[in-house]
Amino acid sequence: MRKYFMQLVTLVVFCVAAIVCCMDNNIAGAGDGFVDLFEKKLSAQGYVEEPVVIVHSFSGRTATVGESIASLFGGRMFRYSDGIGKFPNGHGGVDQDEISSYLNQNTAKTLYLGFPIWNEDVSEPAKEFIATLDLNGKTVVPFYTYLHSVNQNDLDAYMKHLEDRGAIVKPALAFRFSFSCKKNFIRKATRTEILKRQDLWEETENINVSCKPDSSAKGMTLCEVPEGDVWVYHPDSKGDGLAEPVLVRKTVAAFAINKTEVTLKQYSRCVEDGACPEIEMDGSFCGNLIDDNELLSVPCVSSVEAEAFCNWAGLRLPNIDEWTRAARGQSTNNYTWGDSFPADGTTLNMGESPGTGFKEYSLAKADENFKSDGFPGLAPSCSFSKGNSPFGLCDMHGNLAELVSIEEAENNHYALVGGSWMDVDPDTFSMNGSFGVGENFGFYLSGFRCVK
Ligand SMILES: Cc1cc2nc3c(=O)[nH]c(=O)nc-3n(C[C@H](O)[C@H](O)[C@H](O)COP(=O)(O)O)c2cc1C
Repeated sequence: MRKYFMQLVTLVVFCVAAIVCCMDNNIAGAGDGFVDLFEKKLSAQGYVEEPVVIVHSFSGRTATVGESIASLFGGRMFRYSDGIGKFPNGHGGVDQDEISSYLNQNTAKTLYLGFPIWNEDVSEPAKEFIATLDLNGKTVVPFYTYLHSVNQNDLDAYMKHLEDRGAIVKPALAFRFSFSCKKNFIRKATRTEILKRQDLWEETENINVSCKPDSSAKGMTLCEVPEGDVWVYHPDSKGDGLAEPVLVRKTVAAFAINKTEVTLKQYSRCVEDGACPEIEMDGSFCGNLIDDNELLSVPCVSSVEAEAFCNWAGLRLPNIDEWTRAARGQSTNNYTWGDSFPADGTTLNMGESPGTGFKEYSLAKADENFKSDGFPGLAPSCSFSKGNSPFGLCDMHGNLAELVSIEEAENNHYALVGGSWMDVDPDTFSMNGSFGVGENFGFYLSGFRCVK
């Protein structure tokens, strides 16, 4: 008791000097695109397990963080009584026995354990209470708030101690707040930190890249995609594009898929074998685009011709679930590489400004500050390794938009996915950028790959 009181006195001395404003450069606010995205992801059914949030909080800041975490994940929060004196504004909360009995009946595997920093370490009341919990096999996400300084060695030792008790301990979420921080600021800061911590709301998958030539597929290089889950947009929820699309989780059986979009050279072999119709290139924009370069992806192939090609190679067109899984594994990333779109010309072949691209096919404004990716039209396969998918596929975004089969939606059996060499809008390249096309459709923006 006396010890806590002395710590409090020390703190007050610190704080008189520390009238620090609540400022942070990077706080996600309501309406922020990332927050919306996060909520969309979490709203997908069964997406994350509801955690239990257990907090020690003396003056309420750690409790506000805990409340935000619980509300983001839909879990329940407990703030336990620390039994210290009768301080105004409450440090109290529910009886510790109540939490223990809740935990005994609840199967939650993830515990968010929150505490304020006292004496540069985990607050004593938190240590005392956490000592009573059964942590064996639980995933523990520690979080703490502090004012000025933390002893990292002490904290590390404490986390190690939790691991020794059988917990899987994730890196802690740390929040530095001044005394003047309002609740709203604390809530926003919590969201921002959680958003950065993808490991807290996305399961990770161990992926071995395995792409090799397959003699049973005319020697084309196929990449293995093992059975696993994929998040796809529910077709009904895409509708007019105004309603928030809904993600649903599906399991996809193992398959192998072309590492690259099918090239003109590969398609020509099928034509020579008499199994694929010739594509009229001369004098058309298709011809201009490909300019006899056999190594480029073949454009202007309709779904019927693409099916014929895949068939010839002992393969078939991918469906949209397979394509999406090949592009982003079981994550909900917007792109093969993550969620943000760096238009810096390093991850995909996309639209050019009129100055560097095909003038009449440029969607970018003439005065737009646009970094060229170096290719006015198509780029040779695998020119952008930074954009490769987790399974090693090249050019899933940009180059040619790819034909995939879909469950019939508004009479369409196919969709184009991934965006093309001419597109400039990040949404078009994103996983939510697919659009349905009719039978026998193919043009200078579309290509394809096949699966086995
Ligand atoms: C007894 C006591 C000791 C504290 N010691 C430290 C400290 O060593 N370092 C620090 O940065 N903040 C220290 N603080 C400040 C708190 O960690 C900080 O204000 C925290 O956000 C309070 O969380 P709460 O509102 O949930 O109680 C101390 C606060 C108290 C009450």
